[in-house]
Amino acid sequence: MPLKKIFINTMGCQMNVYDTGQIQSRLAPLGYKPTDDLAAADVIIVNTCAIRAKAEQKAFSFLGRLVPYKESKPELIIAMGGCVAQQEGHKVISRMPHVDLVFGTHAIGRLPQLIQRIAATRCRIVDVDMATTISADDFAPGHLASSSDVSAFVTIMRGCDNYCTYCVVPYVRGRESSRTPDEIVAEIEHLVEHGAREVTLLGQNVNSYGQKEGFCSFAKLLDRINRIKALSRIRFTTSHPKDLSEELMLAFDRLEKLCPHIHLPVQSGADAVLRRMNRRYSKRQYMDKVQLLRGIRPDIAITSDIIVGFPGETDEEFEETLHLIDQVGFDGLFAFVYSDRPNAPAVRFENKIDEAIKKERLQRVLVCQEAFTQKKNLALTGSIQEILVDGLSKHQAYGSQDRPPQGAKDGIQWSGRTGTNKIVHFMQEAPADAWNQMLTGRIMEIMIEKAMSHSLWGRPLS
Ligand code: 5AD
Ligand code: SF4
Repeated sequence: MPLKKIFINTMGCQMNVYDTGQIQSRLAPLGYKPTDDLAAADVIIVNTCAIRAKAEQKAFSFLGRLVPYKESKPELIIAMGGCVAQQEGHKVISRMPHVDLVFGTHAIGRLPQLIQRIAATRCRIVDVDMATTISADDFAPGHLASSSDVSAFVTIMRGCDNYCTYCVVPYVRGRESSRTPDEIVAEIEHLVEHGAREVTLLGQNVNSYGQKEGFCSFAKLLDRINRIKALSRIRFTTSHPKDLSEELMLAFDRLEKLCPHIHLPVQSGADAVLRRMNRRYSKRQYMDKVQLLRGIRPDIAITSDIIVGFPGETDEEFEETLHLIDQVGFDGLFAFVYSDRPNAPAVRFENKIDEAIKKERLQRVLVCQEAFTQKKNLALTGSIQEILVDGLSKHQAYGSQDRPPQGAKDGIQWSGRTGTNKIVHFMQEAPADAWNQMLTGRIMEIMIEKAMSHSLWGRPLS
């Protein structure tokens, strides 16, 4: 089989990262090998995100830049996949004559046939069919981006039935549907055999895993995964606060492999806004769950998402969000300005907030959180942390403040994460090649010596 090259530009969330792995696994039997050289590619895929307008624009502007590649290589296949593809469907094909294929979020399993048909007949295809349930055929065996990857994503469910009024996900990912526990465990075992030591289980709302299908609860699924030998760590995302059960909270105490970190998006600290968002919990209920979690697992790191400038958000309601951030003291926060999405109900809500006000509110949230992030990092100095080493440090990953402290020994810089998901850099005096084999994937004890703006610096004890 002649070797062909595929370039995939992955935008958006971890689920897209997982889907890109699936695309690679599906196309490998056709002879497609990944490349990061656009000019060398026979197939270019952009795996898109529709969560906010900016992400959607990014996808179209990337596609726009591909016109010259198509002109100089007419046999090149250009495809758009993911959430924007699902949302826009045929519109992409009519708007962009150089695009050959638009495939939706449920079409990845059909990708090999679609690509083969286009290569053979040069037809243009839109496949945005959606299924209401998930089947084993929808998934190729787990995929690791490279042989040195120690951390892998595993999608355990897709879609969402919550219909938050700002959110496009239910329309572009479809109805909530879960994979069977056996299939998930088999995929993780396969990943572990190939070197993974940590898995992050993915779903829009993992707390309702298997409920529709009558499978086991999410906590019971975690019990099974916890028993997989050679797996060191389990993470999951995302949890909807309304469905976070006591059974799951107790798993943080019971399961030694479950990392003490939960991403629990609150979105707003004002009950009236939460109601308009259709979140179906109050600020009080959210705070109660935070308190329960910390009672069960005092060292748990809690991170969250916030949307500022939701339609009709008053100054007072925004202040309530700042107050909640202050009360909880999150370990990290992702804050976004509200963005109108074509299918989501909030697009029709009145009293849209001025862009300048949204930006100012975002800035205030970020400043408020920054103090907590630094405080949390600082509190770890002098402590001993277990980290999972994920490889050599990426120098471009740190800002000017995140440099080794003065007086640090020369050597090769490594990085890993604590159970609470904080990045730790450390130095090891040894040739990279020899140590790469030995350190990557290992759990190491590190004495934290310095807190930097977005990471920690430490000294290995083991
Ligand atoms: N505008 C801004 N942020 C949004 N999110 C989801 N939809 C929108 C939107 N229309 C944010 C939420 C969600 C995160 C993944 O993206 O905070 O938790
Ligand atoms: Fe979107 Fe709400 Fe579903 Fe999350 S729970 S994916 S915010 S609709």
